Amino acid sequence: MKPRVLQTGSLLPALETALSQEFDIHPLWKEPDRAAFLAAHGASFTAMVTSARYGADAGLMAALPALKAISSFGVGYDTIDIDAAGRAGIMVSNTPDVLNDCVADIAFGLLIDVARGLSASDRFVRRGDWLRGAFPLQTRVSGKRLGILGLGRIGAAIAKRAAGFDMEVRYHNRREIAGSAFVYEPTLKSLAGWCDFLVVASAGGADTRHLVSAEILAALGPKSFLINIARGSVIDEAALVDALVNKKIAGAGLDVFDKEPNVPDALLPLDNVVLLPHVASGTHETRQAMAELTLANLRSYFSEGRLLTPIA
Ligand code: 8YV
Repeated sequence: MKPRVLQTGSLLPALETALSQEFDIHPLWKEPDRAAFLAAHGASFTAMVTSARYGADAGLMAALPALKAISSFGVGYDTIDIDAAGRAGIMVSNTPDVLNDCVADIAFGLLIDVARGLSASDRFVRRGDWLRGAFPLQTRVSGKRLGILGLGRIGAAIAKRAAGFDMEVRYHNRREIAGSAFVYEPTLKSLAGWCDFLVVASAGGADTRHLVSAEILAALGPKSFLINIARGSVIDEAALVDALVNKKIAGAGLDVFDKEPNVPDALLPLDNVVLLPHVASGTHETRQAMAELTLANLRSYFSEGRLLTPIA
């Protein structure tokens, strides 16, 4: 008999195929009466597969009294109630490391795009504006100052790329990293005041909510740019819209938003912001690696009773 696994939402098709080959998968989101299904069958599941998008809240965990393991597709776990899982003795895994390079690539893609006006100049050519004159001069990237909020695994991959652009890197974290090659700025405000580009690479969730506030955007100032490949919640989005509309910062490159897939209407006509639909990890190679790790965590739980990449 295949082990029973509860699935919270649709996943990569290749992962769904692989999951159903090895496990008896129950797609919770397809249940017409979710509460009735959980009341009748909730106690029969010891494992769940979810994603950074769907997460798992305390209510769902309470409806699954035998649950021991959650394997989540994605590195972020702000949508998973980790405290509730801890209290209930439920182990949780994510998919760290395998997406670092693709996410760092997109951070740099956004940075170069917004500073040099790639998307804006592409629109300029398509509109036929080149026939009427030259595209305005933009901002140099190489040799500039890069501030990283959240020098974790992804932040480190971004810093590595910055070396290729001869950029000086400083960072801000809750705590200074002992032995780091980079200068630690004790406050986010001092980092914002120092850098030409501020890249947000921290975790999402309550601890980092609105860290990038109107005050931080003011410290960044009208010549500097903001890049966000982390979570929309880390930035006060209303303050960011105001800063971009009123040119209080030079521009922004955004892969994530507060209420995805909704993007503030006020940003749509602006050329000083690049808007991506949360695609930083979205390559065939990386999504496949994330799928394999999601699967490997479930296998490890059923065969060894432990997860391979548990969230600490
Ligand atoms: C995923 C992400 O695309 O890993 C994460 O935390 O945000 C993305 O890589 C997505 O959230 C998976 O559901």
